[in-house]
Amino acid sequence: MQVAAATNSTDYPFDIKPITDIGGAEITGLDISEPIGPDIRDAIMRAFLEFHILIFRDQDLTKDEQAAFSENFGALEHHVGRLANGQPFPIVHTVTNLGPDGKPSAKTVSRGNYHWHTDKSYHEVPSLTTMLHAKEVPANGGDTQFANTQLGYEALSDEMKDRIADLKAEHSWEASRLNVGAEPASEEQKRERPPVTHPVVRTHPDTGQKTIYLGHHVSHIHGMPRDEGAALIKELEDHTTEDRFVYTHRWRVGDYAMWDNRLLLHRALPNYEVGTERRQLHRTVIIGTKPF
Ligand SMILES: [Fe+2]
Repeated sequence: MQVAAATNSTDYPFDIKPITDIGGAEITGLDISEPIGPDIRDAIMRAFLEFHILIFRDQDLTKDEQAAFSENFGALEHHVGRLANGQPFPIVHTVTNLGPDGKPSAKTVSRGNYHWHTDKSYHEVPSLTTMLHAKEVPANGGDTQFANTQLGYEALSDEMKDRIADLKAEHSWEASRLNVGAEPASEEQKRERPPVTHPVVRTHPDTGQKTIYLGHHVSHIHGMPRDEGAALIKELEDHTTEDRFVYTHRWRVGDYAMWDNRLLLHRALPNYEVGTERRQLHRTVIIGTKPF
């Protein structure tokens, strides 16, 4: 993968360095555990729209500080999942392979994370951004991959663009569970999160660019036989997750990532010793706008 040319860092009131041509930029010299003013907030948002994935290096936020930073960008989202004790996830929840005994365990990892998806697409109003703050990471692996579906869309043939222009897909928490062979959604979860319909070709609300809005929360494409729709979904996902559209992030302790769920698919890679190495990241999700 090509490394992007250096941006003019004077455009931003902090040090920022592009990572790849498909997206990603590293921000250094900014302490986001402290309150940020409107100028810094707006500059972060500009960088977010330009680079899609921001990695703030060397951060150390408490969960309260992470919630406060996150809220600069919108309303915090609750999670549909439940903890082992039946309670909802806290607003800042921990993505981890550690079991209740504090030890690594392959059993605790949510399988869905290993499949390409965009967070909360099973909601009527899905997320704008997800933020992950790395607290403990494996010595090797435990990476997160991002696929730029705006570039994927642009690279489609004109015939394919015409074919998918007006298609709509159903997304649901239930389909999300079924698609990855996870424990089925409970009746309560199905009631709480009924299926929703989104365009397959989404227009980014801030840039007007078209993106491919699919992922493993999708159940089917409306108005198309199931197998034909499934084949089309696979073809589009295989295309937009080709290496040329993908950035693989290797975490460092202290990394604080925020990425644009409106144009990226992402997944975790099971490329570390899940049963022995420790991985803990704190996660917040910000609610976005209804796709069109
Ligand atoms: Fe995710």
